[in-house]
Amino acid sequence: MKTSLSAHERDVAHVLHGYTNLVAHEKKGPMVIESGEGIYVVDSTGRRYIEAMAGLWCVSLGFSEPRLVEAATRQLATLPYYHNFSHKSHNPLVDLAETLVRIAPAPMVKAYFANSGSEANDSTIKMIWYRANAMGQPKKKKIISRMRAYHGVTIAAASLTGLANNHRSFDLPLPNFLHVACPHHWREAHAGEREEEFASRLADELEAVIVREGPETVAAFFAEPIMGAGGVVVPPRTYWPKIQAVLRKYDVLLIADEVITGFGRTGRMFGCETYDIQPDAIVLSKQLTSGYVPMSAVLVNERFYAPIAEESDRIGVFGHGFTGGGHPLAAAVALETLQIMKERDLVKHAGRVGAVMRERLGSLAEHPLVGEVRGVGLIAAVELVSDKKSKRAGGAPGELGALVNGLLTEQGCITRNMADAIAFCPPLIITESEVDQMVGCLARALDLAASRLGLA
Ligand SMILES: Cc1ncc(COP(=O)(O)O)c(C=O)c1O
Repeated sequence: MKTSLSAHERDVAHVLHGYTNLVAHEKKGPMVIESGEGIYVVDSTGRRYIEAMAGLWCVSLGFSEPRLVEAATRQLATLPYYHNFSHKSHNPLVDLAETLVRIAPAPMVKAYFANSGSEANDSTIKMIWYRANAMGQPKKKKIISRMRAYHGVTIAAASLTGLANNHRSFDLPLPNFLHVACPHHWREAHAGEREEEFASRLADELEAVIVREGPETVAAFFAEPIMGAGGVVVPPRTYWPKIQAVLRKYDVLLIADEVITGFGRTGRMFGCETYDIQPDAIVLSKQLTSGYVPMSAVLVNERFYAPIAEESDRIGVFGHGFTGGGHPLAAAVALETLQIMKERDLVKHAGRVGAVMRERLGSLAEHPLVGEVRGVGLIAAVELVSDKKSKRAGGAPGELGALVNGLLTEQGCITRNMADAIAFCPPLIITESEVDQMVGCLARALDLAASRLGLA
């Protein structure tokens, strides 16, 4: 469309942005990104930035992988669309389902496809309810997740999410969605409580909630192996074994939301391997296609799947599915992404370069504005404080985080502040020298912020 107005002006006129203060946006306008190369993106003024968040935790292979473009083009020329309703199928769908089931970190039998992490989580919840009815347990429908969890924004996924801004004014969460404590020792532990005592307390709390609600009413526990959007929360070492013991005791399904942690992010192929988690279902998205095409998947084990299959036979159909689910374009790009990861040994690379990233970020721990540096593999957060002793950031929640995040952008590095924590989740292809550039931007942004706040 030819127009004399800039993309900036037309954006303000026409785009309703997600996760944005819409009134502030009318004054501030957008940062328009026009191209990408490797770990960098370039804005409409020609300025280049390190994309330290891989977009939204997804662009694992960087912003210019020609093989993904070729795989997409080949698929569009062969079969641009097909679906999987009513016994229809296509080759990329079959190949991808087979591959995901084969590489899954726990025994899985089937893969179901959707277009986003939120849709995949909503689909999983519907399957859990359907399964409970199939098993003659119509009361077993309650779902437990955690404070600060992020599972998406559709109605059920947002109900799982444990963040106030995803509930406030949306009339959410839905009834029968419960939230237990977040396993962030640095922030949530009692005075003097050791990590392992803290993990035991959280497992006891989960058990108390299940007993209080009645185990016959609790269907499933949803969790990210490490929390992403809630602030990159790395659980204590014994958290997962203790939580899984409670779930097994009360026959509660465990759903691992690996939307961020899947495909190499934690230095292993899946976060479930890093933490020895044995889930009944695994939710995948984002790095599945390196973010190039929307796609998500739910892998389910036999125990999860069998009653659903029986119920569909009783009713005559499993009445759920998306027009774009398992889209051939997305499936072809996912298969090529997995192939490239294998050829380049990117999981090992992520582990190696991730250790360097965490070591370099850790070297900033003595900075007056740094409260905690945490992470695993190639994902980390730097929690900002203005008073180390009280662990307070000062100002309104998120104000310090937004200040440092803005200064990071000025330094040529795009990050994201989750309240007062700055997240780092760069493309898996990042090199050691690019990590140095990225952490250099943070060091300069911290010094600038400290001098503005009179702390330098
Ligand atoms: C762990 C997790 N689950 C689910 C989602 C939702 O994914 P989507 O934004 O594709 O709906 C996200 C998005 O960041 C996520 O991090």
